[in-house]
Amino acid sequence: MIADDAPVLLKDGKCEHLVAVSDDEFNTGYGTIKLCKLREKEFGDTISTHLNHEYIIQRPRAPDFFKHCKRTGAPLMPKDIGIILAYTGLGSEDSVLDAGTGSGILAIYLGNVAKKVVTYEKNEEFARVARKNVETAGMKNVKVRHGDIISEMANLNERFDVITLDMMDADQVILHVRDVLNSGGYLVTYSPFFEQMKKIRTAIDMEKFSSVQTIECMEREIKFERRGTRPSTRVGHTGFITIARL
Ligand SMILES: C[S@@+](CC[C@H](N)C(=O)[O-])C[C@H]1O[C@@H](n2cnc3c(N)ncnc32)[C@H](O)[C@@H]1O
Repeated sequence: MIADDAPVLLKDGKCEHLVAVSDDEFNTGYGTIKLCKLREKEFGDTISTHLNHEYIIQRPRAPDFFKHCKRTGAPLMPKDIGIILAYTGLGSEDSVLDAGTGSGILAIYLGNVAKKVVTYEKNEEFARVARKNVETAGMKNVKVRHGDIISEMANLNERFDVITLDMMDADQVILHVRDVLNSGGYLVTYSPFFEQMKKIRTAIDMEKFSSVQTIECMEREIKFERRGTRPSTRVGHTGFITIARL
């Protein structure tokens, strides 16, 4: 049986919908589904609309939230999230401090691995949307706080194992990182521009971190076309990731 409020992915081979078990009805475009009927189902079962259009029921995973959650701005791309998870070695005992939350996509991926994620968003409406996305993802270990991380750093009386910053003025947060990051913990910043990244490197140098590196992750899809098979000719820049250890 699928639990109440659990997120559920409905797929028919052509399109997919992210829904939650509830007493509501959901209009798929091919008829409606009474979402309460999902309570009698298991993941892997099928469910039909009132017009007999069939969907397979799957347990959504983080990339499904990336695809379907409401966006308030540009979320971190999976390739860059992968770098953060791999280079920090994020684990199930870790507490993470994240800012800015944005749509909460990075926070959801982090919460999928870590014990706890506290994420700050200074825009109240964005924080509300992110809270809804986190709730949709069923993540009970991710807490979205409304506030400006630059001033909130001084009020934090918790410590963290990893800090992730994907926001303007991240360099201004670095000054306070030593007060809340555990020894041996990692700071990771993401910045789309060279200028922003250079300010971050200057701030990091002043705080004497170790193992500091800035990387850019290039992802190139292989295209299978009628004329032939080759890497995509579109090579896109997303941002620079700076990793530093205390
Ligand atoms: C690019 S978005 C973050 C996207 C997010 N990492 C995701 O994956 O969905 C940057 C966010 O940082 C927020 N922000 C900027 N400065 C901030 C600050 N000082 N404190 C908290 N949030 C801030 C912005 O409002 C914006 O929503």
